[in-house]
Amino acid sequence: MIVTVASFKGGVGKTTTAVHLAACLQEKGSTLLIDGDPNRSASGWSKRGELPFKVIDERQAAKHARDFEHIVIDTEARPEREDLEALAGGCDLLVLPTTPDALALDALTQTIDTLKSIGTDKYRILLTIIPPKPSKDGEEARASLQEAQIPLFNRGIRRYSAFQKASLGGVPVSKVSDPNAYEAWIDYRMVAEELIV
Ligand SMILES: Nc1ncnc2c1ncn2[C@@H]1O[C@H](COP(=O)(O)OP(=O)(O)OP(=O)(O)O)[C@@H](O)[C@H]1O
Ligand SMILES: [Mg+2]
Repeated sequence: MIVTVASFKGGVGKTTTAVHLAACLQEKGSTLLIDGDPNRSASGWSKRGELPFKVIDERQAAKHARDFEHIVIDTEARPEREDLEALAGGCDLLVLPTTPDALALDALTQTIDTLKSIGTDKYRILLTIIPPKPSKDGEEARASLQEAQIPLFNRGIRRYSAFQKASLGGVPVSKVSDPNAYEAWIDYRMVAEELIV
């Protein structure tokens, strides 16, 4: 399976999502993470520590891709329609992380309109960095996306500082010493289960 993580907006959790989906898929079959962001955030993550799967730069992808069962591609925030069209054409599923705030949801609406005009239905929204109660942002964003009949993962990713520790330490969140590390890991685990079926 080839999964591409993309968004129009920056800082919505693309790299965090790509790293954790790759870690989950690796448990099912050999997985490669292709770092398609010129900032090389995923490569940096891997260099700071150790990830349980191979991370390569997009310029090396051709040489390695055939050796793996699953491929996850991290991308930069893309403001152009053509970019999204090319990305959608190159994968089995586009995962579009979005935070549950008004600005991000607005950017998402544009993304969805663009995808509709491209004529693809190979995408699913992932709510990320969902603030804890008493905030209702997560639930409200989910309700409005559902009402608009936008394809959405049942599970969302909650906001945990363990994810920042994971990035700093160069490991998946499951390997971080933090009281919420397990909960944080389970969020991506459940999303990966939805991917496989
Ligand atoms: N679920 C989460 N809980 C808390 N912090 C998170 C979560 N997901 C991501 N973050 C943090 O939010 C910031 C942005 O995340 P990330 O780098 O994954 O986003 P991105 O979409 O890849 O950004 P860019 O557009 O710059 O590539 C990082 O500091 C990251 O550690
Ligand atoms: Mg990134």
